[in-house]
Amino acid sequence: MSDLVAGHLRVGQGWDVHRIVAGRPLILGGVSIPSEFGLEGHSDADVLSHAITDALLGAAALGDIGMHFPDTDPRWKGADSLKFLQHARDLAAEIGYSIVNVDSTVILERPKLKDFRTAIREKLAETLDLEADQVSVKFKTAEKVGPVGEGHSAEAQAIVMLCRPR
Ligand code: C5P
Ligand code: MG
Repeated sequence: MSDLVAGHLRVGQGWDVHRIVAGRPLILGGVSIPSEFGLEGHSDADVLSHAITDALLGAAALGDIGMHFPDTDPRWKGADSLKFLQHARDLAAEIGYSIVNVDSTVILERPKLKDFRTAIREKLAETLDLEADQVSVKFKTAEKVGPVGEGHSAEAQAIVMLCRPR
């Protein structure tokens, strides 16, 4: 790889899991999804935003979400996870990086999420100051296998590319 590319581009990955519980909202990428259950967590438990936040922090080598927003800190109780995303983007921007693109996958057995793809992409893009075509969100079941497949949890994976102009 040329020095030009290596000096400018950074890639980061993120992963998160939250337990499924009754009586909590299901929020993915800042969008409330109609559902008879939600996700447990100290913040709003937005598993997708958490994975993308970690991918962003990872690409900039700025630690992880728990380092910046510890779940023992009462300030983050019930927090809107889009704030974590914005903060991670701002930290990356401080060292000169802007986002090229985000790709992500939510793994959840049900409900079906595909009708919410546009809303989630638009909300994430607005939050990160991107165009919607820079943000991809995919959905998968776990084929009824394992904790996700058996309906105990939801997972999300994300990858983010950053660039820094010379
Ligand atoms: O997991 P599987 O490959 O069967 O998913 C097929 C399609 O169903 C996915 O490509 C996605 O578009 C959709 N899906 C969804 N909501 C989920 C899981 C999958 O809309 N919770
Ligand atoms: Mg989380």
